[in-house]
Amino acid sequence: MKVLVTGAGGTLGRAVLPRLRADGVAVRAMSRRPRHDPAAEWVVAEVGSGAGLAEAVAGVDAVLHLASLPNSRRTHQVDVLGTRRLAVAAGEAGVAHLLYVSIVGVDRVPFAYYRHKLAAERVVAAGPVPWTVLRATQFPPFLDALLRTASRLGPVIGDPAVLAQPVDQHEVAGRLSERLTAGPLGAIEEYGGPQVLRFDEAVRAWRAARRSHRPLLPVRIPGRLGRALREGGLTTTATPTGRRTWADHLADTYGGTGRR
Ligand SMILES: NC(=O)c1ccc[n+]([C@@H]2O[C@H](COP(=O)([O-])OP(=O)(O)OC[C@H]3O[C@@H](n4cnc5c(N)ncnc54)[C@H](OP(=O)(O)O)[C@@H]3O)[C@@H](O)[C@H]2O)c1
Repeated sequence: MKVLVTGAGGTLGRAVLPRLRADGVAVRAMSRRPRHDPAAEWVVAEVGSGAGLAEAVAGVDAVLHLASLPNSRRTHQVDVLGTRRLAVAAGEAGVAHLLYVSIVGVDRVPFAYYRHKLAAERVVAAGPVPWTVLRATQFPPFLDALLRTASRLGPVIGDPAVLAQPVDQHEVAGRLSERLTAGPLGAIEEYGGPQVLRFDEAVRAWRAARRSHRPLLPVRIPGRLGRALREGGLTTTATPTGRRTWADHLADTYGGTGRR
C-alpha cells in the first residue's frame, strides 16, 4: 500500500512516518516546503491554494490527512476548503481511502477551531472518496505547550475542573496504521488516552516533574465553553484506548533533570 501523509512534518506526522514504514507501508510525505529525508519520498503541496495537490495524490492508494492550521485567519481556507480540494483531487486520482484526523469534542466544545474541524469532517464524509475519521484526544506535547503558555506570567492559570485525556501521539500513529490496513470505515472512530485527568491533577504532575513551585491560579472558564470543558467534552469513553499516561510523557520529557 502507498499512502500520502499530509502534515507529515507536524507532531503527529513525525510519529506516523516511522510507524507506517515499520508496518510495510510506502509513504509519500507532504509539506509546504521542500524537505530532505532519505527514508521518505517528500512532495511539496499546499492545501489552501491546491498547488501541487494533483501530483501529490497521483498513484497513492490512501491519503492520511493530518495537515491543519489552527487558530489562524486562514483556518477555514486551509482546514475546510483545503480538505475539500484534497478530497476532490484524491477522488479524481482514484484514491481508495481518505483517513482524516480530527479531535474528540469537535461536536460538543464551542472552540472556533473545532467548528472548522467539524466542517472538515463533513466535507470528508460527503466527498467522493471512501473515508474514515479518527478523532483523537490531546497529544501530551500539546498539553505541555499549553501549560507552558498558561504559566508565562508566573502561576499556572487555568480552570481546575476542566477534564482532559491525553493520548500519546505514537499510539495514535499505531491506530492510524491499523485503520489504513483495515480500509474505509465510513464512520467516525474516537481514540483517547488511558486516563481522564482534571486540569489541576495534570498541573500537579507537571509541576512535580519540572520541580516547579509555581502555584495554580484557578480561573473558572465562563459560559457554554467552560461547561462543556468541565463536563468532559474533550474526553471519550471509546475503547480501545492508548496505554501511555501523562506521567509517562512527563518522565520521558523531564526525567530527573528538574527543568523549569
Ligand atoms: N495536537 C493535538 O493535541 C491534536 C489532538 C487531536 C487531533 N489533532 C489533529 O491531528 C492533526 C495533526 O496535528 P499536529 O499536532 O501534528 O499538528 P501540527 O504539528 O501543527 O502539524 C500540522 C501540519 O500541517 C501542515 N500544514 C499547515 N498548513 C498547511 C497547508 N496550508 N497546506 C499543507 N499543509 C499544511 C504543516 O506542515 P508543513 O509546515 O510541513 O507544511 C504542519 O506540520 C491535526 O489535524 C489536528 O487537528 C491534534
